[in-house]
Amino acid sequence: MRHDIDSIRSRFPALARTLDGTPVVYADGPGGTQVPDTVIEAMAGFLARGGSNLGGPFVTSEETAGVVAAARSAVVDLLNASSPEEIVFGQNMTSLTFALGRALARTWRPGDEIVCTRLDHDANVSSWMEAAAEAGAEVRLVDFDPVDGRLDPDAVAAALTDRTRLVAVTHASNALGTVVDVAAVAEAARTVGALSFVDAVHYTPHGSIDVQRVGCDFLAASAYKFFGPHTGVLYGRREHLAGLEAVKIRPASSEPPDKWETGTQSFESLAGVAACVDYLAGLGEGATRRERIVDAMTSVAGYERTLSARFLAGLADRPHVRLYGVPVPDGRTPTFAVAVAGHGAREVAAHLGRQGIFVWDGHFYALEVMRSLGVLESGGLVRIGFVHYTTADEVDRILAALDELA
Ligand SMILES: Cc1ncc(COP(=O)(O)O)c(C=O)c1O
Repeated sequence: MRHDIDSIRSRFPALARTLDGTPVVYADGPGGTQVPDTVIEAMAGFLARGGSNLGGPFVTSEETAGVVAAARSAVVDLLNASSPEEIVFGQNMTSLTFALGRALARTWRPGDEIVCTRLDHDANVSSWMEAAAEAGAEVRLVDFDPVDGRLDPDAVAAALTDRTRLVAVTHASNALGTVVDVAAVAEAARTVGALSFVDAVHYTPHGSIDVQRVGCDFLAASAYKFFGPHTGVLYGRREHLAGLEAVKIRPASSEPPDKWETGTQSFESLAGVAACVDYLAGLGEGATRRERIVDAMTSVAGYERTLSARFLAGLADRPHVRLYGVPVPDGRTPTFAVAVAGHGAREVAAHLGRQGIFVWDGHFYALEVMRSLGVLESGGLVRIGFVHYTTADEVDRILAALDELA
């Protein structure tokens, strides 16, 4: 069977959790996913075996080097990077992006332009505002369509000039689920000689990523959104990671990726990163891990589309629930921002939460999205997010719980 939901769910211990005797529903995936057994075992295993820092002439230190190398090689396959030197680990996407921004700012001049979008999580907006301010550069924000939640790559292209140095865009909106044609945006950036940075944090659990096909210069992800631990991942083309001046301490290596990895990494998390990539690969078929990942994510996307279609059909019968963003199952992740007539977002989330249905409310750090939709000041929206372990029954349970607010 292509997407064996029971076998998938049996791998996630957290899915067995109940509240007042009823199984809980994790519809909070866009804020962080649960982890499979092998991730927990890999992380606990690292700690239990006896771990050491890197660089020592003894076995535990050598094992740690192996853990780091395995994580890097796994992420190479996940993103289809060209080499392990293109993969940097760090505390989270936000911290990695601030670090990259600091380095890029050293290459910018007053009058240079940075293009961001209003569809983005603020980690892909504020980081660049800070970097631009350091260099005296200017940030331009491109609008998305507030009616259908889409971001037109041509609108991004239209904002580019010969002063543009960087275009920062999301692969998918963590608020509305909109998937963006990031290859078109990266190409537009290349055309004016600008670099491109893709925020793939929300997209990673929902589809396969290919940095070579996208043609971006940088791409960031966060393992806790794709069934792994709390660790950030940054891909950068080797020539950029080698050429840019990273902010680092003097004894640290001046070679990528080491020069970007400030301080000591969370090695137990890196053990978990390799395990979560292997978990995803294990859902697919193919001769290589990369092929298995692509196959798995194609199947995941197909399954998630059925959940989206089911939820959207349910919403169509419920006029008291208003959907913001992409109104069809295609061109989106299964992440839905909604408002319920007569009830604030926090009240709706709390109503669902009392029944063991976990959803987020507010702005989800997608500040410009909420501002553009005119809901920022009124408490934002309710975000209901599905992933590959969500069941059709859970979708129905959420719809039924929303009925109680009609
Ligand atoms: C689309 C998107 N970008 C960036 C981030 C920030 O990621 P991190 O928590 O790893 O800094 C998030 C987190 O919610 C996100 O959803």
